[in-house]
Amino acid sequence: MKNWSRLQLLTHILCWLPLFVLAAAYFTNNLTINPIQAATQRSGDIAIIILLASLAMTPLHILFNLPQLLKLRRPLGLYAFFYAALHMLTYTGWDYQFDFNLIFASIADKPYILIGLAALCLLTPLALTSHRWWQKRLGKLWKRLHQLVYLTAVLAVIHLAMAVKGDFLRLQGDIWKPLAATLVLSLLLVVRIPPLRRALSARHRKGRAVKITPGPVNRRSDSGLSAVTPEKQTETPNH
Ligand code: HEM
Repeated sequence: MKNWSRLQLLTHILCWLPLFVLAAAYFTNNLTINPIQAATQRSGDIAIIILLASLAMTPLHILFNLPQLLKLRRPLGLYAFFYAALHMLTYTGWDYQFDFNLIFASIADKPYILIGLAALCLLTPLALTSHRWWQKRLGKLWKRLHQLVYLTAVLAVIHLAMAVKGDFLRLQGDIWKPLAATLVLSLLLVVRIPPLRRALSARHRKGRAVKITPGPVNRRSDSGLSAVTPEKQTETPNH
């Protein structure tokens, strides 16, 4: 095992936990009377929660100066991909036994599946190129490519809004999940608007400068950090 910090270890445990809970519920016959539907819904929910969590790491760092969170973006992104793939396989494999005639017929009936598929297709190259090796090799292109994660999240939220039994636009029915997801995603996107992002970064840089007491050691460390934006203090500028 790598030299994981406690936070990284906790993240891995928390990301595996839903799979164990899901498997345990299935093997103990506690996955509702419609286990396929329950597994599809739960894996979809977990995928979107982890996807939004991966997007929340940079804004949380900008707001609270927590550079250790930046290291969680890659594992969280990969877990989101894993659960989204599992979700898709539950539907196509378990529910429809990979009968593509039936699957295509079901898409005509449930167009939100196409949007989910688009989200998964976008997430796939991001997962495949998430390794540092690709980051070095692709340079600036890597950053641009990985900005697609925002589009993925928008598609995933639209997919969720269309999949639930309710009318999201009229605020009727079972819409609390898409409503919560839209709110969270909107906040995450707003924090990334460049002037706001700069203002927030500058605010906590200023806060830190005030907290540091004068003295030879502190003065040196302050000048080392203050020229650097929060993201640049740690590795991998990602999403
Ligand atoms: C990034 C990709 C995806 C994410 C994050 C995602 C997420 C979700 C979420 C959160 C739900 C709602 C679950 C609920 O009702 O609580 C859902 C429903 C659903 N998704 Fe996806 N999805 C993705 C891709 C796909 C793909 C590729 C397919 C199929 C090929 C698919 C098929 C479905 C189906 C059939 C439902 C409705 C389940 C039901 O209520 O019976 N999704 N998805």
